[in-house]
Amino acid sequence: MITLIKNVLAVLRKDDRFSVEKCNIVIKDDLIDYIGDAPAYEKYDTVIDGKNRLAIPGLINAHTHSYMTLFRNSADDVPFNEWLFNRILPMEDKLIAGDSYWSTLLGICEMLRSGTTAFLDMYIFPYETARAVNDSGIRAVISRGLVGETADDEGGLRRIGEAKQDFINYKDCAEGRLTFRLAPHAPYTCSPAFLSTVIDTAREMGIGIHTHLSESISEVENIRNQYSMTPIALMEKTGLFTLPTAAAHCVHLDDEDFAILKENGVSVLTNPASNMKLGNGFAPVPRFLKEGINVALGTDSAASNNSLNLFREINNLSLIHKGANSDAVSVSASEAFYAATAGGAKALGINAGELSIGKKADIVLMDMMTPQLNPPTDIVSSLAYSANGSEVRTVIVNGKIVLDGGELKTIDEERIIFETNRIFDRINS
Ligand code: NI
Repeated sequence: MITLIKNVLAVLRKDDRFSVEKCNIVIKDDLIDYIGDAPAYEKYDTVIDGKNRLAIPGLINAHTHSYMTLFRNSADDVPFNEWLFNRILPMEDKLIAGDSYWSTLLGICEMLRSGTTAFLDMYIFPYETARAVNDSGIRAVISRGLVGETADDEGGLRRIGEAKQDFINYKDCAEGRLTFRLAPHAPYTCSPAFLSTVIDTAREMGIGIHTHLSESISEVENIRNQYSMTPIALMEKTGLFTLPTAAAHCVHLDDEDFAILKENGVSVLTNPASNMKLGNGFAPVPRFLKEGINVALGTDSAASNNSLNLFREINNLSLIHKGANSDAVSVSASEAFYAATAGGAKALGINAGELSIGKKADIVLMDMMTPQLNPPTDIVSSLAYSANGSEVRTVIVNGKIVLDGGELKTIDEERIIFETNRIFDRINS
């Protein structure tokens, strides 16, 4: 299957910089096969006219809990403990088999519509996220959320068993769009003894780690009181960082924490809206960038954001650090867009996130005939400061068109909205 995107303005990555050029892009099966002046083949199965379109790498949502899209706007303007224990968990307890399939698909509809082609998910429902990814055509790294108090914690071992079974059942499905990690939830829900079981299992499975770290001041204080060290130092001591690790939040750090993250090649998954909404503050993203720590961008769940639109998050990332640090050069448009694309790919360990030959063909075509993208003075600036995701017209994942002309091609959006609302009514009746 060979597809040509003809004569399109494209955001390319050259010599570690973004470069905006008119070109032809050829997709062969699931990969970008050619980018240049002249088409590489004589015949194509599909030709897409690039007139008035902007090709960008598909965005990568590096931290979310897609099944929680069901809880959007259900727990707003309340303190964290009220949010979790009195609002979210009682609803979660009422979920039955099949519910999270529909709510995950609702999240996927929103992500595809706003130009996201891959996401790193932390979830608690075996099978259903994998099924939703398989059916929708999106790319994902799914990671089973794990909690446990001891090395042989009964519930913890059951969850690890489910994660292993998911891996066996689904590793070969979805044409290679699906990969796996283990997700020890956080230092305050996983003891060091349980973490060593998780680490051994991940190593045996040959997969990496996805976790939450140093999200709130109270988390850091509690871990310090219990272990006389920061959550990041504690995770290093357990050996967690000997595996490829993507750590969400990393908001409250001391000097030694930066050195640990850097030394161990940990990717930070920053979630500006979620951190602001839950009153947790601003992650030290300018310092991560200065120290060469990889930064990826996530929305967190729709229960704490309340949107999975990564354009909104790029906008947040490029603005909030300027305000918080009184520094107009803090986190540039390029740095924010990089975090939402190539930085995300690095954190997820996937061969995507940039328009380059040999990368997976995860490509978004945006409509340049929208007022907010004109005049086209600085395209990368417009992606960070002006775009809102409504400009997305075509979405290609793994070489296949999954959204075209405003229509999702692989999934029935109307039914997904109907089913999700039906579930919401049932769990709240
Ligand atoms: Ni999270």
